[in-house]
Amino acid sequence: MPGVRSVLELRPNENFTMAQHIGILTSGGDCPGLNAAIRGLGKAAREHYGMHVMGFLNGFRGLAQDQTVELDGAMLSGILTDGGTILGTSRDKPHRMNIGGKELDMTDAVVATYHRHHLDALVCIGGGGTQKNALRLAEAGLNVVTLPKTIDNDIAMTDRTFGFDTALQIATEAIDRLHSTATSHERIIIVEVMGHRAGWLAMESGIAGGADVILLPEIPYDVEKIAAAIRRRTQSGKRFSIVVVAEGAMSRDEAYEVKALVQARDKADSKQRRLEAKDALRQFHDEHVGHTIRLTQDLEQQTGQETRLTILGHLQRGGTPSAADRVFATWLGTECAAVLEQRKYGVMLALQGSELQLVPLAEAAGKIRQVPPDHPLITSGRRVGTSFGD
Ligand code: F6P
Repeated sequence: MPGVRSVLELRPNENFTMAQHIGILTSGGDCPGLNAAIRGLGKAAREHYGMHVMGFLNGFRGLAQDQTVELDGAMLSGILTDGGTILGTSRDKPHRMNIGGKELDMTDAVVATYHRHHLDALVCIGGGGTQKNALRLAEAGLNVVTLPKTIDNDIAMTDRTFGFDTALQIATEAIDRLHSTATSHERIIIVEVMGHRAGWLAMESGIAGGADVILLPEIPYDVEKIAAAIRRRTQSGKRFSIVVVAEGAMSRDEAYEVKALVQARDKADSKQRRLEAKDALRQFHDEHVGHTIRLTQDLEQQTGQETRLTILGHLQRGGTPSAADRVFATWLGTECAAVLEQRKYGVMLALQGSELQLVPLAEAAGKIRQVPPDHPLITSGRRVGTSFGD
């Protein structure tokens, strides 16, 4: 098994010889493989390195409100194949948490809980938001290590996140099933997949499922170009089409609007203007949620062909993790225990090529990894005749 090559120096710790106390939490949207990671980390930490391991419930909320569970042998057993997370999760942020209807900065409470339990380190298992929150806690003085999970596969500095492979299988199976009903009715079927602002899930499930059109956030689309691609199929005798759309995909006009909103936010010369620009951007994304409904209507109108929409939604996050996700999550978890043993903190474990690397949190947090428009799989899709709507 490949090892971890560290980019950091060992951090001096006077308690080097004492058993370490480790806390674990899962934060952000759940995904398949979280329990495999908790099990890998917990078992390796306890049984191999003799550490004491406790869990915090419901993400950073459990840390702020001191909701804990002992991760003993019984808790860590029999969970490898279970979906979800035995620790529960939430999208709560330490610095902006809703407590009794008020938004409060709970960072001090989090730090107090950490010290109350005499923790040597905290492991945060999560997606992009979690990396940012973990960095804030590292800056507040806590020893933090993170593991990258999300079905979106969009965390910077890592080639893979666990959860992605299972979601890819679920989305691909859905596309396979929709093919037969699309054929029977000679319809266009639009399949909306998750992925937040990145198109990894749409691109890979679209290619695996043989989609005729794939729409990604990274390649703004033109409805007329999609309709033209479908008409060409019809002319060549193909009476159905499958369109896979990432939830974050946008038309050219929408992409232009977002670009202007982002520029307004980045160039804002006062706090007030920045807040207004951020609100406008948030409103755009809130309203964008229904975009595949509009796309369905537009395509039906432009092609004259019956068109239906299937939104896969949270189905993609539920259930048993794939073998690949179990293996990857176990590898990350067990290597994380080794990293803790060496007192390396302020890092995320990342897959780069075929090796796990330690990436400073500051390099991973606050960035997203999108599909480069010249990605080889886009070229590959185009070569088999797939339209990307551009
Ligand atoms: O980040 C994972 C993800 O499933 C995204 O694909 C999606 O945009 C989002 O979470 C959905 O969030 P929620 O769980 O809050 O509905």
